[in-house]
Amino acid sequence: MSEMIAETAGHQNSSLGDQIVERINRLAKISETPEHLARVFLTPEHRAAAELILTWMRDAGLQAHIDAIGNVCGRYEGERPGLPCLMLGSHYDTVRDAGKWDGPLGLITAISCVADLHTRGRRLPFAIEVTGFADEEGVRFASTLLGSRAVAGTFNAHVLNSKDSAGISIRDALSEFGLDPDHIGAAARAPGELLAYVELHIEQGPVLEAENLPVGVVTAIAGATRLAVNLTGMAGHAGTVPMLLRRDALAGAAECITMIEELCRADEGGLVGTVGYIHAMPGATNVIPGQASFTIDLRAPTDVHRKRAVTDIVRHIEAVAKRRNLVLQVDVTHENRTVPCAPWLKAQVADAVAAEGYPVFELPSGAGHDAMAMIDIADIAMLFVRCRGGISHHPDEHVDMADVDAGARVLLRLIENFRPGAPFPDM
Ligand code: GLV
Ligand code: MN
Ligand code: MN
Repeated sequence: MSEMIAETAGHQNSSLGDQIVERINRLAKISETPEHLARVFLTPEHRAAAELILTWMRDAGLQAHIDAIGNVCGRYEGERPGLPCLMLGSHYDTVRDAGKWDGPLGLITAISCVADLHTRGRRLPFAIEVTGFADEEGVRFASTLLGSRAVAGTFNAHVLNSKDSAGISIRDALSEFGLDPDHIGAAARAPGELLAYVELHIEQGPVLEAENLPVGVVTAIAGATRLAVNLTGMAGHAGTVPMLLRRDALAGAAECITMIEELCRADEGGLVGTVGYIHAMPGATNVIPGQASFTIDLRAPTDVHRKRAVTDIVRHIEAVAKRRNLVLQVDVTHENRTVPCAPWLKAQVADAVAAEGYPVFELPSGAGHDAMAMIDIADIAMLFVRCRGGISHHPDEHVDMADVDAGARVLLRLIENFRPGAPFPDM
């Protein structure tokens, strides 16, 4: 049945998959440390990756440059120059100790699809643009989706002052990278220039594997809220201050963290909450921590649900801080609403999946993607590719070659059959 069809189709032609996997492996070597893949926004390795992606784009027949926020942007003209574009892309930054597929799979597959068109001399009634977004993960600075927000024209200049853990601001990091922070506006595209944005990405979850399917059609991307919490108590001597007289900020943070986990576990509506970073000061074995800061990432299937959870959790944190006599500061560092994939575009993704011989299976995305920001400038759709064990944000992240190839062929077919959602005057 479906599995058989998928297997057969997956082995028809593996040339696209071969090239993509070879490039995924090459890109994965560009990392902060050789042992663990880490390529965070505006670092030297981020720059080296951008240069490599530029060469791949140019080899594929795209005119390419690095824009004002560090996105790598390529354009393949249509039947005549200057036509509006179908934009494809994903990100080339990673989390720390990352897998090599999250982001690069979508970006490199898009480049390989254009290379295939270019080799055949095929021009379409629209241009194709491929964007390698510079910062989707938001690892280095508290904000995320900085690359796609710049393209969508929604970049908030206030975030230029955000600092990394070493105290370097985005503004200074951009200058160090060779970019002018005052020209980020130049990365923004006008809505009429884009016909749609389509992103291929690994699923990062276990659903396609359980369904025995190589690809899936995304319905919507779940919204997310990220908070930065800072608790200030009083540092002191670990041997002399009695327990009841302490204002231990780290113990307060620990109480908050377990409370967040309990609230999310008790929720029956799919709420997920993560504290992925914590820092205590002054950070010595024999000193009571006077300050503790941590982050919270909250996601839920609906925005109403997520917002209710944010309010609830902040109220609980306030209660912990009050009881422990800690000064509290909570900042929302990122907030994205749930975004739907456009029905007309999703239907074209589904048609391409079916035309390649795979059953059409729809699923939502719990992970965030650049498409969440791109929706402010264009209709979006996403194609998911199965990954092993649903593992992501982990070095064991893996995609089989046959699935890489299946995703590439679906994307190529989608591109070649693409029609804009609304009639375009010049097409
Ligand atoms: C990005 O990977 C996110 O969902 O946080
Ligand atoms: Mn990621
Ligand atoms: Mn990603």
